[in-house]
Amino acid sequence: MITNQQSGTTIDEISSGIYRISTPVPPEAMPGGFTFNQYLIVDEAPLLYHTGPLKIFSLVREAVASVISVSSLRYIGFSHFEADECGTLNDFLDLAPDAEPLCSQVAKMVSIDDIAIRPARALADGEEMSLGSHVVRWIDTPHFPHSWECGHLFEKTTQTLFCGDLFTQGGHEHPPLTSEDILSTSEAMRNEMDYFSHTRNAIELADKLAASAPRILACMHGAAWQGDGAGLLRELGKCLAK
Ligand SMILES: [Fe+2]
Ligand SMILES: [Fe+2]
Repeated sequence: MITNQQSGTTIDEISSGIYRISTPVPPEAMPGGFTFNQYLIVDEAPLLYHTGPLKIFSLVREAVASVISVSSLRYIGFSHFEADECGTLNDFLDLAPDAEPLCSQVAKMVSIDDIAIRPARALADGEEMSLGSHVVRWIDTPHFPHSWECGHLFEKTTQTLFCGDLFTQGGHEHPPLTSEDILSTSEAMRNEMDYFSHTRNAIELADKLAASAPRILACMHGAAWQGDGAGLLRELGKCLAK
């Protein structure tokens, strides 16, 4: 569903109660085109995963509001501390009085409790939390793909891994959910941009994420992907080993 005709922002339910919000950036504005995605888990305690950068705040707010009241958000979660992950954290916290930032323990310690208007709820590695019918688990992945505080959220009932900047695909036109090859597209992007850290633990961390056996990879840039997520993460590990 298109929530803004002018920007082309869309919102689609990609698995039960999980919505992908996507705003395209055309090639005129960013070479090759790009997308910024956020994910909304609708439940008793609604969670918005990633806020998008400041420039698209009103679009993301409008898309959330097309499904639930923005003021009912309970958590604003993010993989790591960057503008597109949490640039409008405080703007959402302002609109949702019961919302807390949700992040890794390192993110809370290093940045979030300093910059956010309310203290963060930090999740330890492997810690689980119920949102009502959905259950999320935090997986620490320092420096994978980048940032010390980096981690990824896994939703158990739908087997959805919110994999952040992993499998980033360039271009501004993508289906909400695909089973096509996203590895070669994202590898082209990685080889061009060198946006992964050079951690020695990348293969081990790809394996750690694979252990959750995701059926959906909720990518932050490009299409979300459906299939054998563990297999695709191990394929990524092999590419990183080269
Ligand atoms: Fe990032
Ligand atoms: Fe990102």
